[in-house]
Amino acid sequence: AAVGKGNFRHFMEKELHEHPAVLGDTLQQYLDPGSRAVSLPPLPFDPATVPRLTMSACGSAFLAAQVGRYWIEQLARIPVDADVASELRYREPPLAEGGGAILVSQSGETADTMAALRLLRAGGQKVLSVVNVPESSMARESDGALLTVAGPEIGVASTKAFTAQLALLACLAIGFGRARGKLDEAQARLLAHTLTEVPGHAAQILEQDEEIRAMAAEVAKARDVLFLGRGALMPIAMEGALKLKELSYIHAEGYPAGEMKHGPIALIDSAVPVIALCPTGPLFEKTASNLQEAAARGGRIMALTDAVGARALRGFAERVIVLPTVHPFAAPILHAIPVQVLAYHVAVLKGTDVDQPRNLAKSVTVE
Ligand code: G6P
Repeated sequence: AAVGKGNFRHFMEKELHEHPAVLGDTLQQYLDPGSRAVSLPPLPFDPATVPRLTMSACGSAFLAAQVGRYWIEQLARIPVDADVASELRYREPPLAEGGGAILVSQSGETADTMAALRLLRAGGQKVLSVVNVPESSMARESDGALLTVAGPEIGVASTKAFTAQLALLACLAIGFGRARGKLDEAQARLLAHTLTEVPGHAAQILEQDEEIRAMAAEVAKARDVLFLGRGALMPIAMEGALKLKELSYIHAEGYPAGEMKHGPIALIDSAVPVIALCPTGPLFEKTASNLQEAAARGGRIMALTDAVGARALRGFAERVIVLPTVHPFAAPILHAIPVQVLAYHVAVLKGTDVDQPRNLAKSVTVE
């Protein structure tokens, strides 16, 4: 059936508003809210014994895979490699005997990801794909597939499919942590419970539209924008930069906050917004001190954080968007939403083609 825009101006706006439902639907597949237990279907590799995992994807799906890598390594202690598919397919990676692979794709048709899938299978890896289209080529050619339940995504730049990928990968990380004996039942339950609250928090964030739009009005005037994050927020910083450049054609870079001093700090002056993804958590102080360095050089700090973080950052940040307070595990999923909303508003202000940015395709089926 044809998908309509309903009362929304753009498909992207409609799809942003689908976040709570899509996150809830995806989590429900893999997480029982009653018992707060993750239950995974049989997988092509055994997470209890697999020696190594290779993750690969393209575009936003690759950034989701990178967050997944951080989670799986942290919670399950499985070594994970993550590489964009166009690199993986030609760099002749040595693959572990009995290794597994996880490929991530909204469409399940991206040419480079398909090629990576075939290379990994030919190299004896058991391939699990995380896809949004059940009848896609990747779902068919993998040893197993898990589905995000994002529904059709029309906007070329991924939104709800990206957060659904994160939700699914978060469930995998908990499930793997249990299978591997690295998480006890209580720890796994706490993390699962944290995920069950994500759809509600996503709805709250969508209500902060006005505030994010006000920030967008500032960002729209910039020529260059820097997004910073640490740990699992680093790939979300890169996603923020990717979304902004895709949609508004403003040059943006996403960088690990701690790496700023090795280069991007040279760009910073009062014309460059520095958008920080900085939730409270074990890395908060580290990121906050990087931001202070940027502020000391005249950088205009715009922070996405929570109530506690806001108290520390308000002294030197020009703008602070206060997101719901959550366990650090869920923060990457929630921070993905305001950076998408921000890019959306900047694009609308700039008058670009939000749903169909120039030179981009929804599904890149050529190399
Ligand atoms: C294109 C889209 C991106 C998407 C990427 C990967 O570049 O514009 O939004 O992340 O392809 O697509 P896939 O379908 O494999 O997730």
